[in-house]
Amino acid sequence: MGANRHFRVWRGDDTGGTLEDFQVEVNEGEVVLDIIHRLQATQAPDLAVRWNCKAGKCGSCSMEINGKPRLGCMTRMSTFEDTETITVTPLRTFPVIRDLVTDVSFNYQKAREMPAFAPPAGVEPGDYRMQQVDVERSQEFRKCIECFLCQNTCHVVRDHEENKHAFSGPRFFIRAAELDMHPLDAKHDRKDFAVAEQGIGYCNITKCCTEVCPEHIKITDNAIIPMKERAVDNRYDPLVWLGRKIFRR
Ligand code: SF4
Ligand code: F3S
Ligand code: FES
Repeated sequence: MGANRHFRVWRGDDTGGTLEDFQVEVNEGEVVLDIIHRLQATQAPDLAVRWNCKAGKCGSCSMEINGKPRLGCMTRMSTFEDTETITVTPLRTFPVIRDLVTDVSFNYQKAREMPAFAPPAGVEPGDYRMQQVDVERSQEFRKCIECFLCQNTCHVVRDHEENKHAFSGPRFFIRAAELDMHPLDAKHDRKDFAVAEQGIGYCNITKCCTEVCPEHIKITDNAIIPMKERAVDNRYDPLVWLGRKIFRR
């Protein structure tokens, strides 16, 4: 039998809600999602929470715990002091559906806006052999579990609904960077796209996205900054500039 702990959980829907207090049993080795499940089993059977794997790999259980965006299934109760109240709220950047479940379709919309990987015409399977260095370069970005914690934490959209139409967010900057590094993705200029369509210029490199990423992807250093630098190169490279001038005529 574990000790009783004080939990505050946001309950409500798109019309509004409130924090509800619970005293709930906590046992050694448990994570926050275990406690949410115990609340469902004992005191709040209709408490809504999204989860799937309980292994930090599906990206479903994103929530804010004591104000910090985290995965419920990867946040050990031992992270907190024994006397500390644990406050659990839904992701703030996305509209609430109910309790801890938010509507993250903003992210699916941004994913759809990204032009798909486009190899040159006529390349058949097996024609091209990827070099190991090219595989490794983008491997880091492939670890993304689409938890959208980075999207939720970025200040450009966190309290600024009005920026959402023009800003795709860090998760999709790493997708652009990944495709930009792919030796066969020649059809689209991912840097121009990141500037003109994804709003990468709104990012002022605060690195909050990198801090919350459960996969420890170096979003800012390895994707955003290189993409910004290459976009600048594109724009101010004298040869590219001259080419633009000539071909625009
Ligand atoms: Fe989550 Fe990291 Fe992917 Fe962002 S980049 S969605 S924080 S795994
Ligand atoms: Fe936002 Fe990350 Fe840039 S938090 S401002 S996208 S460094
Ligand atoms: Fe899958 Fe937490 S339940 S990441």
